[in-house]
Amino acid sequence: MTTVLITGANRGIGFGLARHHLAAGDTVIAACRTPSEAKELKGLKGADRLQIHKLDVTSDKSVAALKDEISDRPIDILYNNAGIAGPHNQRVDDVDYEGWTKTFETNVQGPLRVALAFKDNLKTAKGKIVNITSGMGSIAGLTPGWLMIYAYRSSKTALNMVMRILSFELQKDGVTVILMSPGWVRTDMGGASAAISVEESAKGITSTVANIGIDKTGIFVNYDGKTIPW
Ligand SMILES: NC(=O)c1ccc[n+]([C@@H]2O[C@H](COP(=O)([O-])OP(=O)(O)OC[C@H]3O[C@@H](n4cnc5c(N)ncnc54)[C@H](OP(=O)(O)O)[C@@H]3O)[C@@H](O)[C@H]2O)c1
Repeated sequence: MTTVLITGANRGIGFGLARHHLAAGDTVIAACRTPSEAKELKGLKGADRLQIHKLDVTSDKSVAALKDEISDRPIDILYNNAGIAGPHNQRVDDVDYEGWTKTFETNVQGPLRVALAFKDNLKTAKGKIVNITSGMGSIAGLTPGWLMIYAYRSSKTALNMVMRILSFELQKDGVTVILMSPGWVRTDMGGASAAISVEESAKGITSTVANIGIDKTGIFVNYDGKTIPW
């Protein structure tokens, strides 16, 4: 029986991943900030294998409370999915430093905090940590003039580095760490004119994850399996 833990599972890509894993017969620990409002999750097919828990990835207390609830249950896949877009109006003469800090707390420190809290659960299962990053975090892929968003881009670049380091640390324990770009997805964050649906993204992510083992730990990859340059 495969058990997956998903952060930010109440909407968007996290919700798509929950739906996909439930349909595949897996057990889903769906973590979100406000479980009482996660009505769509509760209505999913296979909800008898769904456990909804409260989690704010920016809070030590909240992560520790979830760890207490899950205890030492093995986890096969942790999806570090929760994230925010941060301030978008960033220009060299208009930088929102406070918003940038919040973006780092959520997109960089949040995933590390959750990964470290559940590392023993992942070690037991020889599991995988799938960090939902972005092609926007690629330094090699940056071209001038297109969405020069300091906070979001730098948060995903930092997430890549943090998780690349963790991949080396956890390799000896058989835990695989993946940096996964979900594509440009039609969600609240991606917007209505994004290229792919949540379903397409979740399908691509899950099949790509299934093909990545410990020999490829630390890889930065797109949902369709293509490697992304750092
Ligand atoms: N959509 C895209 O095109 C795209 C492209 C590249 C990468 N991504 C990445 O994919 C991930 C999911 O994005 P999405 O498009 O599904 O975004 P979304 O629709 O805005 O959903 C974001 C999710 O993250 C949760 N979240 C935010 N801050 C949180 C916190 N402190 N603790 C726990 N949960 C928190 C939100 O919960 P609430 O409902 O409580 O706010 C929500 O469930 C993000 O990491 C994003 O950067 C998205």
